[in-house]
Amino acid sequence: MRQHVNPLSSFFQVERDLPAPGELFANPELPLHLDIGCARGFFLLAMANEHPERNHLGLEIRHPLVRAADAQALREERSNVRFLFGNANVSLRRWLEALKPLRLELVTIQYPDPWFKKRHYKRRMVQPELLRWLATAMPADGRLFLQSDVPEVIAQMLEAVAEAGCFTPLDDGQWLADNPLAVSTERERYVLAQQLPVYRRLFSCSAAGEALHNPLAEQPDAG
Ligand SMILES: C[S@@+](CC[C@H](N)C(=O)[O-])C[C@H]1O[C@@H](n2cnc3c(N)ncnc32)[C@H](O)[C@@H]1O
Repeated sequence: MRQHVNPLSSFFQVERDLPAPGELFANPELPLHLDIGCARGFFLLAMANEHPERNHLGLEIRHPLVRAADAQALREERSNVRFLFGNANVSLRRWLEALKPLRLELVTIQYPDPWFKKRHYKRRMVQPELLRWLATAMPADGRLFLQSDVPEVIAQMLEAVAEAGCFTPLDDGQWLADNPLAVSTERERYVLAQQLPVYRRLFSCSAAGEALHNPLAEQPDAG
């Protein structure tokens, strides 16, 4: 398997019809945790065990990893975790529109990009547009958790958050010393084992995201 794919190549720019949220989970009414760039899915499979009160969806652009992760979820008859193949920057918008309003409780984007060079900025996943799509599906207290081990990458992720304008820091603007989640990803475990720095930030969705999904909030005062 090739180590990484170029998300800007024409193959990955085709929007895919992803199965609707209602087709994926035994109880589609549960709040959702979305892990973007989930790789082989070990983090999300463990999170689904820890949090049976949520559904968990992994989205990943490398198809063989998705096939293996989803096969494991189905084989183990796990009713609250699934994996989909697609480019988040291309195929997620319509899927989020099909989700029941404000159902997206947690979004995790962890060590998302192998594209460290500045000229590869456009290949990076965390862009303001993607963050705005996510915010439209989140409640006002929905959480966005970001982490990376590459200072340039996390700096650009934070610029995108600021530009999107729909998330508020929950961490006083400081790096989180500890991971607030119950499970670490493979990349996080590798980085910590090497005693390298980890840059983590936690945000809540601000009311702007909720308003996009609530047409009443956009109507002029009837009185
Ligand atoms: C460095 S890996 C980290 C995997 C995992 N989150 C972890 O922390 O161990 C980044 C993952 O994001 C995926 N990815 C990158 N861009 C993506 C995109 N636009 N849409 C979906 N997945 C993407 C890559 O294929 C890769 O599997």
